[in-house]
Amino acid sequence: MGGRLWILYTVFLNQPLVCLAVAVLFFPVKADEYCPPSCLCARESGTVTCRDGEDTEMPGDIPEWASTFILRGNNMTTLQRGAFSPNGTERPLVTLSLSHNGIRVIEPYAFQGLCHLHLLDLSHNRLVSISPGSFYGLLALRSLNFNQSIVPHAAAQLLNALSGAEHLRSLHRLDLAGNHLKSVPLMRLDMSNLHTLVLTNNSIETIGRDNVASLYQRKRMRIYLSLNPFRCNCELEAFYYWLRNSSQCPDSGSLVCSEPEARRGVPLGNLREEEVDCANENLEAVSYVFLGLVLALIGVVFLMVLYLNRGGIKRWLNNIREACRDQMEVYHYRYEQDSDPRLANVAV
Ligand SMILES: *[C@@H]1O[C@H](CO)[C@@H](O)[C@H](O)[C@H]1NC(C)=O
Ligand SMILES: *[C@@H]1O[C@H](CO)[C@@H](O)[C@H](O)[C@H]1NC(C)=O
Ligand SMILES: *[C@@H]1O[C@H](CO)[C@@H](O)[C@H](O)[C@H]1NC(C)=O
Ligand SMILES: *[C@@H]1O[C@H](CO)[C@@H](O)[C@H](O)[C@H]1NC(C)=O
Ligand SMILES: *[C@@H]1O[C@H](CO)[C@@H](O)[C@H](O)[C@H]1NC(C)=O
Repeated sequence: MGGRLWILYTVFLNQPLVCLAVAVLFFPVKADEYCPPSCLCARESGTVTCRDGEDTEMPGDIPEWASTFILRGNNMTTLQRGAFSPNGTERPLVTLSLSHNGIRVIEPYAFQGLCHLHLLDLSHNRLVSISPGSFYGLLALRSLNFNQSIVPHAAAQLLNALSGAEHLRSLHRLDLAGNHLKSVPLMRLDMSNLHTLVLTNNSIETIGRDNVASLYQRKRMRIYLSLNPFRCNCELEAFYYWLRNSSQCPDSGSLVCSEPEARRGVPLGNLREEEVDCANENLEAVSYVFLGLVLALIGVVFLMVLYLNRGGIKRWLNNIREACRDQMEVYHYRYEQDSDPRLANVAV
């Protein structure tokens, strides 16, 4: 008994490798099984899911092996700098879903260390403040989802953060649906690989010539635009023609006018050319101005004729007055003459 113990003792003492093997065999199992509180860990699929917790901060200790991290239904107002990698070391996350968390602020460098991330879902939050350096370090990001996520006045900040982000070069899909956006300056979005831009359910009234020029340049891009309140007047002309001879807008059939009143609900594709024709609209305006000028001219000429003939007119008026008076006198005279025989008749 004692001898066997002694043998074990010497083996462990003299064979540090065995010691290491034992340690590697037993202790890492414990580390592998580690899962942040209130989360579910699926080691095989590399997925960590944390739902409906009370957390107001990121669970700092996401397991090293995780490639997909889903945090949903928490109450987390701020996405802090280095939220996933405080010291900037690389994390192997590929998919990060942070929807429905009431996030209001994204600090600069919030996603540092996530240089392998392909998909970032920030939909259904309430973003008020988005720092220009928010997306720094997302070198491999392919899909960014901001569906119904920003409050109306934060739109400019979001576009700023996106347009200043030359590190988002790999971005393929950008989803900005339901964000009250009034316009999206496409020429500022310097993302050469962007294939899909979703702008449905926003407040876009028109798409100007600059944006249409960008669309003509990005032949490979698909843009979704349904559920926007288009104002169908001549400002829409360039876009109208782009829509007719381009197949880049897959939902073009469901774009409808919401202004002017007379064209509400009319599909953009059913508009006639003259309804968006600026030359036509200008011509109409010009013709009204012209008509006004002609009328004014006629009025002036008329007044001048009156003025120049004032002597003649006076004479003419006097003549009329005289003629009237003569007539009245004749009438008066006749009346007096005629009254007698009537009286005579009565007497008879
Ligand atoms: C979220 O947290 C804030 C304070 O951090 C609190 O005032 C608010 O009531 C919480 N909301 C929900 C829905 O839990
Ligand atoms: C960074 O932090 C992680 C844990 O979060 C640690 O394992 C790693 O050693 C740190 N790296 C540096 C360079 O400090
Ligand atoms: C984004 O919102 C649109 C409608 O606004 C919806 O059809 C789509 O499924 C949403 N996508 C995601 C990923 O939530
Ligand atoms: C459009 O967006 C608003 C919020 O911006 C949302 O409440 C509404 O459900 C969305 N509509 C559709 C059809 O997705
Ligand atoms: C688009 O159509 C309009 C009129 O139908 C035409 O003048 C214009 O050249 C076309 N543009 C392209 C790029 O095909």
